[in-house]
Amino acid sequence: MKISVIGTGYVGLVTGVVFAQLGHTVICMDKNREKIDNLKRGIMPIYEPGLKEMAVKNHDEGRLFYTWDIKEAVTKSDLIMIAVDTMPKENWQTNLGSVKAVAKDIGIWMNGYKVIVNKSTVPVGTGNLVERIIRQNQKKKCGFDVVSNPEFLREGQAINDTLHPDRVIIGAENTAAAMKVVEIYQDMNTVVKVTKLKSAELIKYASNAFLATKISFINSLADLAELTESDIEEIAEGIGLDKRIGRQFLNAGIGYGGSCFPKDVGSLIYTAKEFGYDFSILREVKRVNEARIERFFAKMKKTVKLKKKRIAVLGLSFKPDTDDLRESPSLKLIKFLLKEDSEVIVYDPVAMDNAKASLKRVKYAKNAYECVKGADITVLVTEWNEFRNADLKKIKKLMKGDLFFDGRNAFEPHIMKKLGFRYFSVGR
Ligand SMILES: NC(=O)c1ccc[n+]([C@@H]2O[C@H](COP(=O)([O-])OP(=O)(O)OC[C@H]3O[C@@H](n4cnc5c(N)ncnc54)[C@H](O)[C@@H]3O)[C@@H](O)[C@H]2O)c1
Repeated sequence: MKISVIGTGYVGLVTGVVFAQLGHTVICMDKNREKIDNLKRGIMPIYEPGLKEMAVKNHDEGRLFYTWDIKEAVTKSDLIMIAVDTMPKENWQTNLGSVKAVAKDIGIWMNGYKVIVNKSTVPVGTGNLVERIIRQNQKKKCGFDVVSNPEFLREGQAINDTLHPDRVIIGAENTAAAMKVVEIYQDMNTVVKVTKLKSAELIKYASNAFLATKISFINSLADLAELTESDIEEIAEGIGLDKRIGRQFLNAGIGYGGSCFPKDVGSLIYTAKEFGYDFSILREVKRVNEARIERFFAKMKKTVKLKKKRIAVLGLSFKPDTDDLRESPSLKLIKFLLKEDSEVIVYDPVAMDNAKASLKRVKYAKNAYECVKGADITVLVTEWNEFRNADLKKIKKLMKGDLFFDGRNAFEPHIMKKLGFRYFSVGR
């Protein structure tokens, strides 16, 4: 099938590359010309394991094209995927500006029947809005259908998640249109669930909000574990063995970040309110998460005076295996540390270049060992394997002090103690 993907960001690029890999002809379109010119030269705008190789291969073999021309993307495809940003406004209402602009352009250039597939995360009812905008802007009156096909990929594992999803959700008001989308997933060995258009839109928010709830739940329990001198890791293990609960997303720490969880929780609360429903449980999930950094910082401050101390921060990205800094707990913690007039040295395996654009008052180290050299305090904020597998003896030797704050429970307290660290983690 001829597929166009409008918006070649995280989701759009990975989706385009994977569908090309599955044998479809794909045009990835973006309004950002520099990004498109770079992609044509094999330069990826994001770091994602396996992405570059697959993108270059499919581009070279003539299945994957890049353009900044929306007319070309619309006229040369049967199926158009929308994968543009839907960042929240300050009040957490979803900014649908990019989605609306794309819908208008699709209407203007539509030259025959198309299936419009929305992959962006959008509030319930947006599919109908997209349909209205396309209709209002059509120069040529041709038929089309709007389908919701929310994206569930995880950054850091995006290629694998897109090739082998747990499930594919296709929401449509017209079965024939839904079947056209089912067709492009037929080579994937996965469950495809066809739903109402609006159900699909809500399934996406519900999934992320539920996972965020699990995280805030375990983090609240971690606070109680500290007060009761129990161990949150043992507790998570104990409850996670219950098949109805499961162990995933029960890792206590300094909270969730990224471009999706904070935004989707906030947006679902906002949308619910618009429909006259107070989603109070999610308001609490959000509050608990927002308090994590402050609580962790307070723990540091209670233990040691931070003023003029040299503090090594390991990890900048919001989670391992990505260079994404959006809503990163690390950046938030660093802001607090800098306010204390401490000297902050940072290191991250891949997110350093992205950080340099906005994070100015810190020093950048070339590796974890250079980062901790001479430090009074080390803080681990992102649990990259590189840190988990680091030589802790060497770290202890290189540091001037002995304080180690672990925001991700990456190490065993008794081992850290044995190595001579004064070690503080979460809920233990
Ligand atoms: N990043 C994730 O892990 C993830 C996972 C699941 C779902 N989502 C959802 O997918 C959507 C896209 O997210 P993302 O992370 O890929 O965003 P992104 O910001 O990385 O990419 C969006 C791209 O759309 C382009 N764009 C914006 N307006 C355009 C227009 N009018 N015409 C052409 N291009 C345009 C931008 O230039 C940008 O390159 C969002 O709704 C997000 O919530 C993201």
